[in-house]
Amino acid sequence: RIEAVRFRPILDSRGNKTVEAEVSTESGGFGRAAAPSGASTGEYEAIELPVDEAIAAARERIAPRLEGREFAGDQRSVDSALRAADGTEDFSEVGANSAVAVSMAVAKAAADVLGAPLYQHLGGAFRGRNFPVPLGNVVGGGEHAADATAIQEFLAAPVGAPSVRQAVFANAAVHERVGDLLEERGEAAAKGDEGAWAPSIDDATAFEIVDEATSDVAEEFGFEIRIGLDLAAAERYDGDEYVFGDEHRSTAEQVDYVADLVDEYDLAYVEDPLDEDDFEAFAELTERVGDRTLVCGDDLFVTNTERLQRGIDEGAANSILVKPNQIGTLSEAFDAIELASRNGYDAVVSHRSGETEDATIAHLAVATDAPFIKTGAVGGERTAKLNELIRIADEA
Ligand code: PGA
Ligand code: ZN
Repeated sequence: RIEAVRFRPILDSRGNKTVEAEVSTESGGFGRAAAPSGASTGEYEAIELPVDEAIAAARERIAPRLEGREFAGDQRSVDSALRAADGTEDFSEVGANSAVAVSMAVAKAAADVLGAPLYQHLGGAFRGRNFPVPLGNVVGGGEHAADATAIQEFLAAPVGAPSVRQAVFANAAVHERVGDLLEERGEAAAKGDEGAWAPSIDDATAFEIVDEATSDVAEEFGFEIRIGLDLAAAERYDGDEYVFGDEHRSTAEQVDYVADLVDEYDLAYVEDPLDEDDFEAFAELTERVGDRTLVCGDDLFVTNTERLQRGIDEGAANSILVKPNQIGTLSEAFDAIELASRNGYDAVVSHRSGETEDATIAHLAVATDAPFIKTGAVGGERTAKLNELIRIADEA
């Protein structure tokens, strides 16, 4: 039985308040988890309420429904109870921040009762043996840093790494090398919300630097490291044009621009290259570059199976970003990953720009055999997940 469900406000990596939930069971099981928070959020995400409101609503509506509940580690029935406690499509009554924190805390309590690591509880006996390739943020701007690149994220993609540990170390090395190259050019740089360097340079210069850094580190480590991007284009689309720095592009020009970048830099990955409402342009780009590059929908799909199904039907993208707080429960994040993999879409489990030390997404990625995880390269709230992956790989 679930004995108690508690909520408290804690700090996230930006210094903002976020929701932490704790679940304890009569048999002595315990789980604690915290909600992350986005800055470049998609329009169709589940609703994040102000933290104090979310906690008050959760105490009133979620705790009484879960406390005393028969507890067999049945995540789906718990997540259905969360849906029922809220009663809306988008978790606007209790807040997706409260919902996701409890959903993850329940999974951890269940794992604790079983004496199993979380990835094992979530993935079960038929889990595969693959580890996700970590995508590491090395340069960034957009909504994650002022006065930096227009493209939100430049990512190292160590697709040739023989182990998750070497991949993680390679990404940190690319990050460091980028820092050195910036210094050589006299570009002082602070770091953005996800730990990437946030220099005041244009995107073309960032490509030069990231290209050089990934080549150098690939040579040093002896395996292939490609480049990925998150353009977060919904943030740059004004309803008529895409505005990246001084560049203004029509939708057709944006498709050409991204396709040319894929060619020029052999990009492994492009996330949200187009607006979150434009399934058609996504399909056009996917048709052009999709056999050698992942075209990933973040704001496009928002971890929502209905939106993903539409993408599958229309050929929009070939990959989905999975952020549990975009949908509100672990069960629904699982559903999105399963629908994706059944249809040949690669799932990329992802952090948010506002994070905590919570490492649930590392376990989620391993449990579901997700081919990729995007969770930064450096910074404590990012390395919490990366180091957890290294530990899981040692144990699994
Ligand atoms: P967010 O950014 O967490 O600020 O939404 C991450 C992303 O767009 O992938
Ligand atoms: Zn994104």
